[in-house]
Amino acid sequence: MVLANAVTQRESAAMPLLQVENLTKTFGSGKSEVVAVNNVCFEIYPGEVMSLLGESGSGKTTTARMILRLSRPTQGRILFKGQDINTLKGVEYWRKVQTIFQDPFSSFNSFYSVHSFLGKAFRLKNNHLSEDERRALMEESMENVGLNADELLFKRPHELSGGQRQRLMIARALLIGPELLVADEPTSMIDASSRVGILNMLMDLSRKHRMSILFITHDIGLAYYTSDRLLIMNEGEIVEEGLAEQVVETPNHPYTKRLLADVPTLRKQWET
Ligand SMILES: Nc1ncnc2c1ncn2[C@@H]1O[C@H](COP(=O)(O)OP(=O)(O)OP(=O)(O)O)[C@@H](O)[C@H]1O
Ligand SMILES: [Mg+2]
Repeated sequence: MVLANAVTQRESAAMPLLQVENLTKTFGSGKSEVVAVNNVCFEIYPGEVMSLLGESGSGKTTTARMILRLSRPTQGRILFKGQDINTLKGVEYWRKVQTIFQDPFSSFNSFYSVHSFLGKAFRLKNNHLSEDERRALMEESMENVGLNADELLFKRPHELSGGQRQRLMIARALLIGPELLVADEPTSMIDASSRVGILNMLMDLSRKHRMSILFITHDIGLAYYTSDRLLIMNEGEIVEEGLAEQVVETPNHPYTKRLLADVPTLRKQWET
C-alpha cells in the first residue's frame, strides 16, 4: 500500500517539493580537505517519505544542514517548489521546512521551560492565537508524542530525559505543521518500543497532511519500514536510489548489498 501511494503521489505531482542539485560540501582545505557531500542530486515529492541511509560519517547530517539553510553548499543548489532556497525569506522557509535533530541536547537552552520552547512555534505560525488557545494546542501536541503535559509543561530541559527532549522537538515541529520535515535520527534517544509508535505517528501525519519527510538514519530496517523511497549514501555520494521494496529486494550497488547483509529479515509490518 505504501508502495502504491508513493507511485501515485509521484505521478500526480507536477513538481517536486524539494530538488537537490549537484550538492557538494567540503570542509577544510589542502591536505586536510574533507569532501563531506559530493555532487548529490535527488528530489522529494509532496507527501513522500524518503530515507537517507548511510553509515556514520557518510554525509547525511551535512546534507540535512544545507537543506535547512544552516550551512552553505560549496557547490550546487537546492530548490523548494522550484525556487532557490537562498532567495526565500528565512521565516517563510522555516515555517514550511522543519527539523528534528539527532542530538536534542544541543537544541535546548536550559533557561527556557517546555512551555516557552513550544511557544516559539507560534512565532512562525498562528501568531494571533490567545494564550488559552496556544496552551490547548501545546498540550495536544505533547499528548500526541506521548508526553504528559500536566507533569512536564513547566519543566526545564535538564529535568527531562533524552527521550522526552526528543519527543518535545517532534511536538514543536508538528505544532508548526511543515510541508517538509527533515528528521535526523529523530528517535535515537527513544526506546525501541516507543520508537515504532512515534514513527507510526509521523507516517500518519505525512499521509493525512501530505507532509513530506526526509528521514535520516543508519538503520535500514527503520528506513524500509517507514519509507516510500530510499537514498543510499556512502562517503558523501548517493550510490543507489529507488522505491524501498526495489532497493531492498534487488539492490544494485555493492555497498547497498553490504548494508543489507548486516541485517536480519526486513519486514514492512512491525512486530509489537
Ligand atoms: N563542521 C565540520 N567541519 C569539518 N568536518 C566536518 C564538519 N561537519 C562534518 N564534517 C565531516 O564530514 C563528514 C560527514 O559528516 P556528517 O555529520 O554529515 O555524517 P553523518 O552521515 O551525519 O554521520 P552520523 O551517522 O554519525 O551522524 C565526516 O567526515 C565529518 O567528520
Ligand atoms: Mg549525522
